[in-house]
Amino acid sequence: MDNSFDIKKLVRPNIRNLTPYHSAREDFEEGLLLDANENSLGAPFQEAEGLHRYPAPGQQKLRELIAEWRGVRKGNVFTGVGSDEGIDLLYRIFCQPGRDHVITTPPTYGMYKVSANIHDITVDKILLSEEDFQPRADAILEAVTPNTKMLFLCSPNNPTGNSFSSKAIERLIKEFPGIVVLDEAYIDFSDQESWAPKVVEHPNLVVLQTMSKSFGLAGIRLGITYASEEIIRYMMKVKPPYNINALTSRYAIKAFENLDTIQFKAEAIKKERKKLRKKLGEMNIVQKVYPSDANFLLAKVVNAQNIYNQLVERNIIVRYRGDEPLCNNCLRITVGTPDEDKQLILALKELEL
Ligand SMILES: Cc1ncc(COP(=O)(O)O)c(C=O)c1O
Repeated sequence: MDNSFDIKKLVRPNIRNLTPYHSAREDFEEGLLLDANENSLGAPFQEAEGLHRYPAPGQQKLRELIAEWRGVRKGNVFTGVGSDEGIDLLYRIFCQPGRDHVITTPPTYGMYKVSANIHDITVDKILLSEEDFQPRADAILEAVTPNTKMLFLCSPNNPTGNSFSSKAIERLIKEFPGIVVLDEAYIDFSDQESWAPKVVEHPNLVVLQTMSKSFGLAGIRLGITYASEEIIRYMMKVKPPYNINALTSRYAIKAFENLDTIQFKAEAIKKERKKLRKKLGEMNIVQKVYPSDANFLLAKVVNAQNIYNQLVERNIIVRYRGDEPLCNNCLRITVGTPDEDKQLILALKELEL
């Protein structure tokens, strides 16, 4: 989409005209603070010191760190409660309940559809290609109607693990007449470049990332959305005022003092993924292990439901994905530690006997 693309026309009128809640901590974070009805006598135990104050609504420091890391401006960054909040807000901003449609490319991450169902939005599914799990750009563009507002692409894709071709992504960004949401939750386990810096060139591109995967911080619930400053302003307007809590913010900021460790662990997971793929591929009950750019592998096995159940009996939990289109008899297996993966392989060997 070129720069003449008018985002305002895509935004729901009630959101365009919304006057957001103005929270106390937006104006002042220091001084004699008697403005927010916080508890002036403080938190009830020592570890919670400082937590009697509301958190910073704009998360300026965290957004600055993220922006610097990915080579964008702070105005291109939104922080949410996991990627899921980013997805939810995009529906709120761009999709009219009961009328609008989005396009997804199954098999893919389930939240795009769940969030659509919550907002009463119709999902038009254009399956990935059967031979290589790539998006079928022609079929996607043919499925567009005047009410199609967003397209969800996930690269590397969950549960297939592959990255989408940059050519297909670029074509879809240029030709899809709505918002293209590119979910890069697993990007740091791939050798692909992130599309995040490209949000300044493409006004309809929204990139999602998360601290739940390569950062190893799923528990703090910190998701990142990159988009044009205009889209980010809408997201800031619609979000609950204090969506990012003070503990999450503190840990997310600290993560940036530990980028070397994060990178080291991502590399270790990539190496372990290669080993695990080889080991799984050598087993009789495994028919195919698909190539993966993520921290998991999709494996086609003989009778996935049975193997899944037998692994559960041994207290080894993988994800059954045989119900997903194009994933008949497939299990999705997170790359574990070398020791965990050894236990998995041993258990699978027992099942082969
Ligand atoms: C593709 C994809 N996006 C987003 C998420 C969830 O991210 P978060 O934990 O930030 O909500 C997942 C989690 O499995 C995922 O697979």
